[in-house]
Formats: sequence, structure tokens, C-alpha cells
Amino acid sequence: MIIAIDGPSASGKGTLAKRLAAHLGFAHLDTGKIYRAVGYQVVRQGGDPEDEATALAVARALDPATLSAPQLSSDEAALAASKVARMNAVRDVLLQFQRDFAESPFGGASGAVLDGRDIGTVVCPEAPVKLYVVASAEVRAERRHKELLERGEASIYARVLQDMKDRDERDTNRSVAPLKPADDAFILDTSGLNADEAFAAALAEVEKADADRLQNKSTAT
Ligand code: C5P
Repeated sequence: MIIAIDGPSASGKGTLAKRLAAHLGFAHLDTGKIYRAVGYQVVRQGGDPEDEATALAVARALDPATLSAPQLSSDEAALAASKVARMNAVRDVLLQFQRDFAESPFGGASGAVLDGRDIGTVVCPEAPVKLYVVASAEVRAERRHKELLERGEASIYARVLQDMKDRDERDTNRSVAPLKPADDAFILDTSGLNADEAFAAALAEVEKADADRLQNKSTAT
């Protein structure tokens, strides 16, 4: 069972993916971390994340052990990620990594939850459950702003909102694997929901898909 979760930044998709994976005993891959790891590494070695040759070399050498580095949560890593993510060649290299994970999740789990921007449309178009998590830019900026303040980092709401809109714009309008829902995705708007309500709605979708799968199986036999 593969669960594909997509949506813009701070829509709540990451929290949801983690929770679903823990609840179902599935493995979880935050695919944004892969792009962040590549972008951040390029910047760290003094390179330009818009330079394709450098980004490609880093993507090819990506070490999965670096995906848990705390520096990847920074806005600097997010910005660099959204730049390398626009390159077709970089995406191709990272696509295989993601598909390998979906087919053989770490730890031999019976299922995988992947969250990102193009999981339902490109990485796992056959996934039986596709969720597209959205919330207004203002709600998402407010969440991100609060998170930064709670972490003790300086934050200005207007700046966070502008950065979020810029990143949405880059992710939505790029020519390769743009941010958009798959035709058969369930759209979950979390603007007015707390984490528990969003989780309950997502779980209901997963259970529905599972019941449909079992039903199809029994009618086919
Ligand atoms: O989800 P997160 O904010 O960590 O993603 C960082 C950036 O990585 C996104 O803004 C997007 O440009 C890119 N990304 C992507 N495809 C994915 C996941 C992330 O292009 N599946």
C-alpha cells in the first residue's frame, strides 16, 4: 500500500504523513528533504543552486544518511531546494530514489507514505490513496511564523508570507513536475482544521480506499 500526499509548504502534509505512517506501521519519506539536502549541499560547498552541473553532481552523490540533518529545516535550505527542484535532470536522479523507497520501504514495512509535490502525479501515479493537502497562504504563513518563533528564531510574518508565496509560485509554475493535484486525488483543505481533525479526515480516506481495494479483490475472484 502506497499513500501519496502532496501539497504546498506548511499545508500540514508533513505532520499528516508522519502520523498516518506511525498509525499504520508504514515507512515515511519526506521527499522535500531530498531536494533540501541537494540544495543545501550545493550552497554549503559554495556553489550556486541554479547551476545545473553542480546540482546534478550533488544529487548523484546524495547520501540518505544526510536526510536527517537539522540544517535542512532552515529557510535557506528550502529556498535552495526550490531552485534545484526546477531542473529536470536533478528530478530524474531523485525520482529513482523515491520509487525505490516506495517499492521497498526501509525496515521492510508493509506500506509507505511519501509526501511532497509530485508524488501522486509523477513518483507514484498508481498509489491507491492520493491526498492533496491545501490551506490558504495566510494560514500557512501563520503556522510557519509560529513554528519559527517557538524554535526561538527571528521571524516577521509579512516576510514569511511573501517567501511562501514566492515558493508556491516557483513550485506551481515550473515546467517540470509542477505542484498540482492528481486527477483522482482527495483534496483536503486544512485551513479550518486542527491536526486531529485533519488526521481523522485523511484516515477516513485511507480506510475507504482499503475497503474499495478489498471489495474489488473479492469481486475479481
Ligand atoms: O516540502 P518542502 O518544503 O520540504 O520542500 C522543499 C522544496 O523542494 C519545495 O519548495 C519544492 O520546490 C521541492 N520539492 C519538489 N518535489 C517534491 C518535494 C519537494 O519539487 N516531491
